[in-house]
Amino acid sequence: LLSEACLFPQAAPQPKPPTSSSPMTRHLPDAVARAQQPAHGAHAKDDGACGMERTSPTTSKCETPISPSELSKHAKPGDAWVCVHGYVYDVSRWHDRHPGGSALLLEYAGMDATDQFELFHPPHAAARLRSLRIGRLESEECALSTKGSAAADYRALRSALWSEGKFEPELRFYVLKQLLVIACFVGAVGALWCDEPSLGRRVCSAALLALSLQQAAFIGHDTLHNGVLRRRGHRPARAALAQFNAGV
Ligand code: HEM
Repeated sequence: LLSEACLFPQAAPQPKPPTSSSPMTRHLPDAVARAQQPAHGAHAKDDGACGMERTSPTTSKCETPISPSELSKHAKPGDAWVCVHGYVYDVSRWHDRHPGGSALLLEYAGMDATDQFELFHPPHAAARLRSLRIGRLESEECALSTKGSAAADYRALRSALWSEGKFEPELRFYVLKQLLVIACFVGAVGALWCDEPSLGRRVCSAALLALSLQQAAFIGHDTLHNGVLRRRGHRPARAALAQFNAGV
C-alpha cells in the first residue's frame, strides 16, 4: 500500500471531488471533511481563500475546472500545483513554508497527492489547504481509476481507523514512558553513587543510561510528529517536551 501511494506517486489514482454522501467524507475527521466541501455557499467563511469569489460569486474560483493535463504542467518550484481530494492547490509561493519541507511537497507538484496528504497530516492541516485552492480537477477518469484499487481500500481503512479514534494520542502512555525515562536515568546515576563502583554496577548503569536515552529519543520523535500533544493550544508544551527529550 505504502509503495503504491508514496514510492510511486505518479501511479496514485486521482479521486473524484467529494460529495457530502461519499464514504470518504463520511468517515474523515471533521476538519478534513470541512476542507473538502465545495466552496458554494461557504464563501463568507473562506477567509480570503479563492479571492476571485468576491468579485464573481456565481463562478467560484474554487470550482474552476482544471484538467489533469493542465495540472501536470505546473510541476516546478515557481509554478507548482498539487491535487488533494479532487481539488487543485497552488503551492508556488507557499512550498518553502511547508512544515514538512519544500522538497517533499515539490515531489508531488503537478500530481495527485491525496494519499500522501492523508498519510502525513493531522486533521488541522486541512485548514491550511483552503487558502491555496484554485480549482477542482474536472476529470471523471480519476474517480474511475480508484475503483477496486489498493489505494481505495487503503483510504477506506484509514478513514475507518480515524473514526474509531485509533490515531488519537495516548497521553497516559507517554506520561508513564516519561516517568520510566526519568527512573532509568536516576537509576543509572544511582548505580555509580559510591566510591569504587564494581564492574556489575557500571554495566548496570550503562544499560539503564542507554535505555533512558533511547526511550527519550522516541518520546522526542513522537512529540515532534504530533503523536503526543496534537492540539494547537498544546504548542508550547509540545515544544518543551520535544526539546527536553530530543535534547537529552
Ligand atoms: C498542498 C498540500 C499540502 C499542505 C497544505 C500541507 C500542509 C502541511 C501542514 C500545515 C503541516 C504541519 C502539520 C502540523 O501542524 O503538524 C504539514 C506537515 C507535513 N507535511 Fe504537508 N502539506 C501538503 C502536502 C504534503 C505532501 C504532498 C507531503 C508528502 C508527501 C507532505 C508531508 C508532510 C510531512 C512529512 C509533514 C510533517 C509531519 C509531521 O511532523 O509529522 N505534505 N504539511
